[in-house]
Amino acid sequence: MEPMRILYISIEGNTRNFVDNLTAYAHQQHEQDPANPLVEGTEISDQTDFAVETKPYFVTVPTYLDGGDGIGSGVTELLTNTLGEYIGYKNNARLCLGIFGSGNKNFNAQYCLTAKRYSRMFHVPFLADFELRGTDRDVHRIYADMVARSAEVLTAK
Ligand SMILES: Cc1cc2nc3c(=O)[nH]c(=O)nc-3n(C[C@H](O)[C@H](O)[C@H](O)COP(=O)(O)O)c2cc1C
Repeated sequence: MEPMRILYISIEGNTRNFVDNLTAYAHQQHEQDPANPLVEGTEISDQTDFAVETKPYFVTVPTYLDGGDGIGSGVTELLTNTLGEYIGYKNNARLCLGIFGSGNKNFNAQYCLTAKRYSRMFHVPFLADFELRGTDRDVHRIYADMVARSAEVLTAK
């Protein structure tokens, strides 16, 4: 079984830490039963050469916004723009299976808004959110979401 791929960006390390934990958890699950897929994380940064994606992938994006009131307009995306540009590059958005958002609930209505905006912008489902580095429960839940969404897309073919 092909590993489930996840592209992410991380400015302060929380999202990277979450993806590392997710990858480690998937490894454990795979050891217990090879039918459980592995997870392969790929970090996108300002140094990344854009590539045409050829296999399905998930996205995790943290939220860095300036201004706005949580309604979705009037905000300026900071720092994470490269990931959005990468998804928008050529036909890459077509292979995106879904988006996970990370953020901080102190931001109230703007919690995870970048992931929600990407979901609308690229017409891909917003699958789930987690705060900061996420908990073990978040890791288990999001792994299950990825497995379910991959299976859904496979059976729809
Ligand atoms: C300048 C700044 C702006 C932020 N704006 C938001 C926001 O609008 N909504 C939100 O949910 N989290 C916001 N956050 C919280 C980050 O999304 C959160 O800390 C996330 O875990 C950072 O991920 P990273 O460490 O992988 O970069 C903001 C953080 C900073 C430093």
